[in-house]
Order: sequence, then structure tokens, then C-alpha cells
Amino acid sequence: MEIVVVDGRDSERFRRFYEVKFGVRREELEFPVGMGAEEARVFMAREHADVRAEGLGVVDGDTWLGVAWLDWWLVGNTDTVDVELAVAPEYRRRGVASRLLEVAVERARDAGRRIVSGTNMAGDPVTGEGPGTAFAAARGFVKKHAELHQVAELPLADLPEQDVDGYEIVQWREHAPDEWLGQFAELLSGMSEDVPTGDRTDEPVQWTPELVRDAEARRVAQGRFVYTTVAVHTASGELAAYTQMGGTPETPERLNQYDTYVRRSHRGNGLGIAVKTPNLRALQSGVARPAVLHTWNAPENAPMIAVNTKLGFRPVAQRTMWERNL
Ligand SMILES: CC(C)(COP(=O)(O)OP(=O)(O)OC[C@H]1O[C@@H](n2cnc3c(N)ncnc32)[C@H](O)[C@@H]1OP(=O)(O)O)[C@@H](O)C(=O)NCCC(=O)NCCS
Repeated sequence: MEIVVVDGRDSERFRRFYEVKFGVRREELEFPVGMGAEEARVFMAREHADVRAEGLGVVDGDTWLGVAWLDWWLVGNTDTVDVELAVAPEYRRRGVASRLLEVAVERARDAGRRIVSGTNMAGDPVTGEGPGTAFAAARGFVKKHAELHQVAELPLADLPEQDVDGYEIVQWREHAPDEWLGQFAELLSGMSEDVPTGDRTDEPVQWTPELVRDAEARRVAQGRFVYTTVAVHTASGELAAYTQMGGTPETPERLNQYDTYVRRSHRGNGLGIAVKTPNLRALQSGVARPAVLHTWNAPENAPMIAVNTKLGFRPVAQRTMWERNL
């Protein structure tokens, strides 16, 4: 067994890597979410302002047995490396994932990182258990957090209306308008601080206008699209809430609900649904159908799960986040 390092610049090597990674997701998940091949290749082809991604493969001759995807955070969580392991079903229980983890740990130590973290996507919706959780527990990881995966088949009919007095709805697509950029960065930072993360080691990201523009440019380069709806408090001109949903034409049937956030001083006014409904409407009228919209929320984030259930989402899996200190 040989270890190979993968990045997005070697297209053929990346293709073999991605086949294993996505093949396993397809095998394990009713809804195999994740980046499409080209989207992922572009992501892995260069360093970004906030993250550098890197791949590892365990290869025997021309056969790829298993892969690891490593995210090296460059802002926030700079002590952590995120590792996603995937082993082709026919090569499991032979130590392939253990070998990949060993190499990841070595690289993490060399880079001065203190924590290896990983997410098991394919947990049972109720118990959260699966092969990934058994592996994590066997290799010294501790469970730190869980999120419920909910899906909704689009189009959703009968979306609940919620106009909130004193707020105005504004929408944009790939780029935040200059006039909202500064406040939008503030809300993204608030989201990063406030989103429930259980016991995970999580250093909030302080978003700046430059980081927002970098993330937007990356998304466009990856071929992604995004719909943003915000609520503006008319009296103060304050950006009070936002929500984002999007996807990529590479996988048109798969759409994601990204963040939804209400500024602390504006909570309790129903702004969650007030921004989600018009965003869903814009998304539904702009994309091909049928499509499935995905979202993940911590069980302790009951208000958000309740909003989603009201909109028509149902639970399909539980993902759990694990950490091992080095
Ligand atoms: C989880 C996964 C990566 C494990 O790969 P693997 O190459 O089979 O793992 P290893 O052979 O190195 O297993 C090491 C130990 O983990 C535990 N383990 C691994 N899979 C297990 C399973 N299905 N049930 C119970 N224990 C398991 C065992 O203790 C095993 O040691 P043993 O075989 O000597 O008993 C693989 O099952 C997989 O790709 N699953 C789907 C994707 C996933 O869940 N990824 C994890 C998210 S990061």
C-alpha cells in the first residue's frame, strides 16, 4: 500500500481520488451530499484566504482503496485539521482508514496543529451510529457535537407568509452589494460566534469585507450559485437577518440551505421565516426541479429545526463531529 498526496491541479489523480470519496458517500447516504467533482477539484487546486484543502490516497498498483480529505483552516480553528475518511466497501476492516489517519496525524503534528477533527455524515437519524462512529471511537476520538440532517423536496407549496413590520426585505445573488458589505461581514461573524457547536473546539471567524469577497470569488470559480435574502431594520438601517441557499449546476437536484442568522438585538420578531420564505421562493423559481434542499442543525437549535419542520422539512440522518487531541 502506497500513500499518494492529491491536489486539484493533477486532474487524473484527482478524478481517482474523487471517485472513491464520492462513491462512498453514494453508498452510505440516502442523499449523497457534497461538492461535485469539478467544484471540489477547483477548491483543492489552490490555497484560499481561509482554508487549504489536501487529499491523501491509499493506492495498491492501479487500485485506490481509500482516501482522506484534509481541510487546513487558515483563519479560525488554526489549531485543527479536519479529516474526512472514505474507504471503498470491499477494502474495509484491513486498516486502510487507520493508515490514512496515521499519515494525517503525522502531517498535523508537523504543521504544529493540536487537534484532528472529523465528521461522520452517515449516522442513523435517531442513534447517530454508523461505521464511522465505530471507527472514531476505536481510534481515540471523542464525540463533541451532533447535527440533524433534514431535507425538503422542492417545490414547497403553502410557504408561511411572515411580513414583519419595520423591516424591509432585500435580495441579492452572487455578490453582496457594496452598501451592505460591511454589515454583512458583521452578521457572518455573528453567525460564526453564535451557531451551536456543542463541545467542539471552535474559534469564531472574524469576517472582513476582503474575506467575504474572496469567498464569493471562490464560489463563482467553483461554478456555484447562491441566493441571499436579508432583512433591513428600516428605522436604523441595520442589517438584522440573513439567509443563504444555493447549489451548483453540476448537481442540479441537490440544493443547500446555508446559514440563517438573526442579529442578537433583533431576535424574537419572526425574522427567521421572514427571510427564509422569500429566499425559498426566489430559489424555487430560479432552479430546475425536482430538487431536494438540505439543511443541518444541532438538536439544541430547536427553534431553527421547528422553523424548518414548519416549512416542510423531514429528518434523514444525524451527523456527529469528533475530535482527537494530539
Ligand atoms: C469508517 C471507515 C472509514 C473505516 O475504514 P476501515 O479501513 O474499514 O477502518 P480500519 O480497518 O482502519 O478500522 C480500524 C478499527 O475501527 C473499528 N471499525 C471500523 N469499522 C467498523 C465497523 N463497521 N464496525 C465496528 N467497528 C469498526 C474497528 O475497531 C477497527 O479495527 P478492527 O478491524 O481491528 O476491529 C469506513 O467504514 C468508511 O469509509 N465508512 C463510510 C464513510 C465514513 O463513515 N467515514 C468516516 C467519516 S470521517
